[in-house]
Amino acid sequence: MKNVLIVYYSQSGQLEEIARTVAKPLLNDADVTVTFCDIQLEKPFAFPWKKEAFFDAFPESFLQIPSKIHAPSDEVLSKKYDLVILAYQVWYLSPSIPVNSFLKSEFAKQLLENTPVITLIGCRNMWAMAQEKMKVILKDTGAKLVGNIVLVDRHINHVSVITIVEWMFSGEKKKYLGIFPKPGVSDKDIQESSKFGTIILKHLKSNSYETLQEELVVNDAVEIRPFLIEMDKKANKMFKIWSNLIIKKIDSRPKWLKGFNIYLLVAIWVISPIVYILYLFTYPLKLARIKKEKSYFKGV
Ligand SMILES: Cc1cc2nc3c(=O)[nH]c(=O)nc-3n(C[C@H](O)[C@H](O)[C@H](O)COP(=O)(O)O)c2cc1C
Repeated sequence: MKNVLIVYYSQSGQLEEIARTVAKPLLNDADVTVTFCDIQLEKPFAFPWKKEAFFDAFPESFLQIPSKIHAPSDEVLSKKYDLVILAYQVWYLSPSIPVNSFLKSEFAKQLLENTPVITLIGCRNMWAMAQEKMKVILKDTGAKLVGNIVLVDRHINHVSVITIVEWMFSGEKKKYLGIFPKPGVSDKDIQESSKFGTIILKHLKSNSYETLQEELVVNDAVEIRPFLIEMDKKANKMFKIWSNLIIKKIDSRPKWLKGFNIYLLVAIWVISPIVYILYLFTYPLKLARIKKEKSYFKGV
């Protein structure tokens, strides 16, 4: 008998749907017991988001400052797991506050120490640096990262910016104005994600994860877009400056968050298209580095 724990947090239900779809082959196997653990914050974030709350989550998300969580149920805490699947979303290029809060809680060490962990990301499209941060946090809990699966919105970056904002502020995952594509991870990608569960099951049964990531990648578990990685790295540098500045502004925080909001709009709609054009011109010079990065970010 194998025990699998699936830890997740989801506001819209998208990531929960992804986690439950990936888990299907495990749930259908008589030799596997799957336990779900939904991370609950003591002070939950409201969904849909209000604009002020959305930007207010920036400094603590980026600086990875945890909040208090409710203890997982006794059922979750009472077992020892052979494998943990950690489903997380990215907030401001970092693991989301709820997931970071779980990982920095006393419960994470108890559940994850010396245990193989597979990360399952469901986000817009910018996740690479968040996963680098995740690797550090997991190391601190004593977990062994053995796999990574990433589901993203595959539409053009700027289209997904428009549709996700509409989704987060309305709470409805639908075609904006009837002309934009549906936001988030496509229904097709979610439905097909059970194929990853089949691969995971095989490795769980043989208790060997050495070739797991290779097999996941062959089955399209991770798609790398080099320009997004470049933007992710650049934005991390700017976010570091902004977050360290804002966190110290106790009284004038709302004013500074408005400034960050304006910066973000300029960065997305003015700076990033310019950087993209420059990137295209210098692309041939970067081929060797891009190849190396692709192989690195597809790994664990
Ligand atoms: C405050 C906030 C910040 C976000 N920042 C990012 C980001 O930096 N990169 C990204 O790919 N997605 C980002 N997203 C999208 C989320 O990763 C996720 O896809 C979306 O919130 C849906 O997840 P859910 O299952 O919790 O509803 C952000 C979402 C929120 C609410």
